[in-house]
This record gives sequence, structure tokens and C-alpha cells, in this order.
Amino acid sequence: MDSRPVGVFDSGVGGLSVLRHFQQLAPNEHTVYFADTAFFPYGPRPAAEVRKRSFAIAHRLLRSDVKLIIVACNTASAAAIADLREAFPVPFVGMVPGLKPAAQSSRSGNVAILATPGTLGGDLYARVVDEFGRAAKVTNVPGHGLADLVEAGGANSPQARDAVRRALGPAVEAGADTVVLGCTHYHFLADDITAEFPAVTLVDTSEPVARRAVQVLREQGLDAPPDNQARLDIIVSGDPASFRQRMTELGFAPGIEEALA
Ligand code: DGL
Repeated sequence: MDSRPVGVFDSGVGGLSVLRHFQQLAPNEHTVYFADTAFFPYGPRPAAEVRKRSFAIAHRLLRSDVKLIIVACNTASAAAIADLREAFPVPFVGMVPGLKPAAQSSRSGNVAILATPGTLGGDLYARVVDEFGRAAKVTNVPGHGLADLVEAGGANSPQARDAVRRALGPAVEAGADTVVLGCTHYHFLADDITAEFPAVTLVDTSEPVARRAVQVLREQGLDAPPDNQARLDIIVSGDPASFRQRMTELGFAPGIEEALA
């Protein structure tokens, strides 16, 4: 048993989707969430830059004595997960677009992967396509500007519906019946996508990733004692006030905040 906190990070609010599931699955764990809003968005940045940020964040989270880090960002996982695992002495749980479950559940055998350019261009995703892509026709859909819309609080709006219609329309018209939410920000666009494309099945890996983190904690004897005092600490590299507002809108009550460049 280990009462140290679990670190979670993303470029902004996207990783809160994973955090929410993690808190539900492990309500006695203390969590520290790092939102790298000063460097948002990661999606269009070169992999080397996202890797550098991921390393800086891991160093900062380790100063908070975290026992495990969830990389709650597909783009950062694509750029850095293997190097992070080699460089730091704690386990990392990362994410990759859910092509495998999508290919298994699609009836048309035609799936669309909605993700950032960084994720779609990375080796991690290329390996997943190699392994599972033969089971389906895969259309990559880069979500230009979609994470920005979510980060600005624009989900669940006519503007969001327009944006998802423009992004996904061609793939759905070409027969895709399953859409993979390959960026944690897109979790918050699920209702907009369903409103536009009611027949489409969405694949969201935020819950399985949270479950995997709980499993790793148990396997390694790192889970918190049942009477542990759980709390949520937030570190924001950009403006903490606007991040606090966004979190409140999304139903979170953060403990402390700290601005870190
Ligand atoms: N939430 C991040 C992901 O899962 C990316 C958002 C961004 O572009 O910063 O890929």
C-alpha cells in the first residue's frame, strides 16, 4: 500500500476525461493533475517539442512525489511514452487511439480515427495500424481546431456541431460507422458528434486507460490504503483562473492551484 499521489497530465482539459474515470474507479487515491495550458495545443507541434514538455512535466510531478503517471494525452503518448518509461523510475500508463476495439465492433468494417496530426503521424499509431488495421478500412481524420474549441469551453454548441460535421462528414458519408475519439479533448465532443451522426458508434478509451492505471497500481502494490485521504491538486502552466473556471464547468472541484511556466 502506498499513499503517494498519482500524476496525470495533458495539454489542457482533455485528460480530465481520464481523471474522472480514475477518481470513480479509485476514490481513495490522491491525484495531481498537470494542465500544460501555456503550451496548448500539442497536436500541431513537432514531436520533439511535445517530448520536451512531457519530460519537464514528469520532473515536476515527481517533485510532488507521484508513484505513477497517467499520460492522459494521445499526442504526448505518441511523442514520448517509450522515452518516459526509460528515463523515470515510476510506471507510466499512456494512450493510443482505440483502433482495435473499433475494428472489432464496426459492422461496416469502416472506421474513422479522429485524432491530432501529432498522434496520426507518430510511430505508436503506425504500429497499432500495422497490428489491427487490416481488420477494417481505416480513415484518418485530423481534428484541426477541435481540441482548441473544447479548451475554450465551446463543446455542446452549434459551433461544435458545425466543426464535427465538417471534420467527420466525408468519412461517415463514405461508410464509416465507428468513430474513434483519438484525443482526450474529443471526449467532450461526444454529444455533438452523436447529435450530428446518430447512427455512428463512438470509441472512447478514457475509461479503459483509467482502469489500466488502477490495475498497474494493484499489480505493483502501489494502491492507496482504503482510508487514504483522497484529494485533487492542480498544476497549471498557463492562466490558472481560466483553467479553474473550465474545470468548474466540467464539474470538478480542484484543491490547490499553482502557476508554473
Ligand atoms: N488532449 C490531447 C490528446 O489526447 C491533445 C490536445 C492538443 O492538441 O493539445 O491528443
